[in-house]
Amino acid sequence: MLRSYGKAIVLRFLPTSRVAELSPEEQAIYRQLDPARLPQHVAIIMDGNGRWAGKRSLKRFLGHQQGAESVQFVVETASRINLPWLTLYAFSLENNLRRPKTEVNFLMRLLRSYLVDNVERMNDNNVRIAYIGRTHELPSEVQEKMQWAAEATAPNNGTVLTLALNYGARSELVDAVQALAREAAGKGTTLENISEADISRHLYTAHMPDPDLVVRTSGEFRVSNFLLWQMAYSEIYVTERFWPDFRGIHLLEAIADYQRRERRYGGLNKRQESDEAPIPDSFLVPR
Ligand code: FPP
Repeated sequence: MLRSYGKAIVLRFLPTSRVAELSPEEQAIYRQLDPARLPQHVAIIMDGNGRWAGKRSLKRFLGHQQGAESVQFVVETASRINLPWLTLYAFSLENNLRRPKTEVNFLMRLLRSYLVDNVERMNDNNVRIAYIGRTHELPSEVQEKMQWAAEATAPNNGTVLTLALNYGARSELVDAVQALAREAAGKGTTLENISEADISRHLYTAHMPDPDLVVRTSGEFRVSNFLLWQMAYSEIYVTERFWPDFRGIHLLEAIADYQRRERRYGGLNKRQESDEAPIPDSFLVPR
């Protein structure tokens, strides 16, 4: 069962799957999956570009460039298995504030060229591109290309690729609380009536289900201010692999791992529920 707390569930029914287009190695993993229990939404913290480059005595920017190649490979595998939502953490607010200007400028140029070079392939793969984050603070020439790519892929009804750009989960919550407070003041809503659903409705992700699976590359066990509200019940998968080495097959491995998990959302599984005998009153001894 697909469950999502505090927001309406968005189930998308996608066109026929293109599993036959997976590589033979990918197909071998896909055959182990239960197609009825594929995640609806996978979100990825792409990490390790710099270390990938460092291990090869290359400049960091070459790691980012190789990372952009991985993005397209992973997007295409996602589209072949009909993954409805794929969200990639491509540029955080903290990256914007704390990285050297030269690296930030390079990432902005890389994003533009990624969009220009890949929109046609997105259309071939029925992928629609979207964005979350304080994107209005990005350079105007980047915003123009982002809008162009979003419009060029808007008719596609396959995988929605959402790039988190100039994104931070805490600032998303600040933006949501401000919008909600404005709405509440306008409608005269009493504060006690504000619910989880009201907060979800004002997040950048209001239109999508929460991620079922969050993947982080490069072996770091951190969430780095990514989708903090939305990942309340996500399964987390960490791989040692650096992002520039991550391919579609590794996405499928992460999904296979996800399918071996049991999601309980704070409840019990069926066996635990049926084993549970009433607890005798005498068990709790008053002090
Ligand atoms: C982390 O590597 C990754 C990023 C800063 C953001 C991800 C960017 C890309 C994958 C490249 C371009 C993306 C698109 C969509 C065109 P890091 O520099 O933090 O690596 P490190 O921790 O090894 O230093």
